[in-house]
Amino acid sequence: MKKNFPLIFIILGLCALLLGAFIGVLSSFVYLYPDFLKDVIPFNQLRPMHTTTVVSWIILTATGGIYFYLTKLEKIPLYSANLGKAHLLIFILTAFGIYYSFLSGKMGGREYLEYFPLLTIPILLGWLLFGINFFKTMAGKVKNWPVYYWMWGTGIIFMIYHLSESHFWIFSNIRNDYIKDLSIQWKSYGSFVGSWNLLVYGTAIYLMAKIKGDDSIGRGKISFFFYFLGLTNLMFGWAHHTYIVPTAPWIRYVAYGVSMTEWIIFIQIIYSWGKSLSKEKKNTHLLVYRFLIASELWVFLNLTLALLMSIPAFNYFTHGTHITVAHSMGTTIGINTTILLASVSYIVSKLVKSKGLETQKVVTYGFYIFNVSLLLFWFALIAGGVFKAIWMVNESNSSYGALQESSAPIFLAFIIAGCILFISMLMMIIPMIKRLLSHCSEESEE
Ligand code: HEM
Repeated sequence: MKKNFPLIFIILGLCALLLGAFIGVLSSFVYLYPDFLKDVIPFNQLRPMHTTTVVSWIILTATGGIYFYLTKLEKIPLYSANLGKAHLLIFILTAFGIYYSFLSGKMGGREYLEYFPLLTIPILLGWLLFGINFFKTMAGKVKNWPVYYWMWGTGIIFMIYHLSESHFWIFSNIRNDYIKDLSIQWKSYGSFVGSWNLLVYGTAIYLMAKIKGDDSIGRGKISFFFYFLGLTNLMFGWAHHTYIVPTAPWIRYVAYGVSMTEWIIFIQIIYSWGKSLSKEKKNTHLLVYRFLIASELWVFLNLTLALLMSIPAFNYFTHGTHITVAHSMGTTIGINTTILLASVSYIVSKLVKSKGLETQKVVTYGFYIFNVSLLLFWFALIAGGVFKAIWMVNESNSSYGALQESSAPIFLAFIIAGCILFISMLMMIIPMIKRLLSHCSEESEE
């Protein structure tokens, strides 16, 4: 493969985002028309196809970025380009297996990892190769690591462990103990998300340091505090994921405290970075700057929602409603996706020296439409959740059909916002793919 494999990871990531969002749009029609596509591919196959594809966007793009930054920008010789290419090939082949599993309905995995469980073995192998390559490249060779190298390294290790942990249910002594099974499942999911967050937040700090041209942001006390907080959250933050597991209340309070503080610190890091940046530097990387500032706004909005959802009286009613979906999509699109789009924009600006993506009007319009439509999309989901919560309180007074009828305008708004969101993604991502494609035939550094 005489190709620049880090860029292929990123191009595949961008394609996964477009495909995943398109499947999301199809899934959203089911809210209004429950029989939509039922005979072709039912919602219980469409939904996991959507979530797996969008999670792949996060993983592939964060991974490609790390390979790219280390080899191309930091000029650190990679331990083995062949291992990196094998990692890519394993993920591509596994993707075929995963789509076959969803399309044929031969699934069998647990929620969020619904594909045929044996497919996790090649995924783990890919992560293992990534881990070996990362540590063999960095350990003992690069001294005095800034925080983002720690975040990437620990993110990889924890991902390998927690992805395995999420499959512990295959052992009968765990599967037969309901509480143990439920606790391990949700703990692993929380930590699994925490692991990719380390890769993504590490990327955000890397970008801030590079744009400012000052590495102190990656070495400052506040960044390391943020890292340890993220690590604590990854290990213990799961406790707030489910209220039905019987744990001591203080465990939940600590978990909440840690996850909320982590977000506050992240807002603080971006805010002080944005304030300290000269106008000239902002203009040189305008699109990257805009995406990072947008991610700050989305952290703030999701923090507000999470604080409200954490109030036990509210949580009792919001649990299992669209408010939870607003929380998951608000964070994965608003925070993870904006940071990763900042990363792709930065990579494009490094490849195409002359003009960055910000000079293309369609991308700038796409950026604004993306944020406005996401806001509508997010509010529609919250409104749908509030309607359901109110209906649950008055359940005896009205039927489920009446709830569906009264929620229809909200679901229509959700579908329209989702379609516009998808179009805005096309406006930004197609130019990104085009620019990356023209550079991906260059051989990466060995
Ligand atoms: C662009 C248009 C999109 C639409 C219309 C859409 C629609 C949907 C729908 C209908 C669901 C199922 C919710 C349910 O079970 O009731 C869903 C779930 C989900 N989507 Fe999207 N989606 C879109 C984009 C994305 C993107 C780009 C991401 C991430 C980067 C994402 C992340 C998720 C996640 C994590 C869930 C699972 C929610 C949960 O279980 O709480 N979506 N989406």
